[in-house]
Amino acid sequence: MRPPYVGLEVPPPYSGDNTYAEGEIAKIRAAGRIASRALDAVGDAVRAGITTAELDRIAHEYVVSHGAYPSTLGYRGYRASSCTSVNEVICHGIPDDTVLREGDIVNVDVTAYLDGYHGDTNRTFRVGAVSEEVDQLVERTHEAMMRGIRAARPGRQVNVIGRVIETYAKRFGYGVVRDFTGHGVGSSFHSGLIIPHYDSAPSYADVIVPGMVFTVEPMLTLGTHEWDQWADGWTVTTRDKSITAQFEHTVVIREDGFELLTVSE
Ligand code: MF3
Ligand code: CO
Ligand code: CO
Repeated sequence: MRPPYVGLEVPPPYSGDNTYAEGEIAKIRAAGRIASRALDAVGDAVRAGITTAELDRIAHEYVVSHGAYPSTLGYRGYRASSCTSVNEVICHGIPDDTVLREGDIVNVDVTAYLDGYHGDTNRTFRVGAVSEEVDQLVERTHEAMMRGIRAARPGRQVNVIGRVIETYAKRFGYGVVRDFTGHGVGSSFHSGLIIPHYDSAPSYADVIVPGMVFTVEPMLTLGTHEWDQWADGWTVTTRDKSITAQFEHTVVIREDGFELLTVSE
């Protein structure tokens, strides 16, 4: 089943629900599991010599063979089943004939749509052995995401998430991307709720409540947080071409914490 925006001339609005009942959460979890397992399959294939288009094909085949639809395919004019962002590409890299080389990093972002609900997740993979500086960036970007998720508790404002992420990232002097954010997700791909990854207070003061579903997907860089976009209208790079990493989970807020909805088990 395709999301309603596929094939329409008009892009979908950034609107939708932000809190969900348990039956709906189960559906987001089912979609999220497919996206996560697609990333498992992609990760098994990452090696020097493979192209980003081949990784996209693996993600596509996994998602459709499990009864889901790859949410990015036909979303706002995007024409692939994943985003593949190599080295200095912050996000929204388009799969193509780029050959991965030893020492590269590649982020693969997959969203699955199943039974009316989206699950959105990404991971950064190392291609063979990478430099220690890049290895630490990848590890710490994952840690930054998890710290942001753990800070999200009922009664706090969503801006607590970015405050925690930025504080951690600044310890290492990393750039923290501001203009691409987490978002509400579920019955729509991007609900209109924005989750910054930097300290945005007093803005973005939405109060976190149980049942709220959104992504946390920080992008950290070895240099600037400023960015450029390629003429393809999608690919976003660091302005200084420094290396950048990202991780993403879809999460639901619980009375006493959170649950990850984009896990393989
Ligand atoms: N999955 C991305 C996100 O995390 C969105 C990609 S939209 C696309 O929000 F059109 F670029 F694919
Ligand atoms: Co997302
Ligand atoms: Co994503």
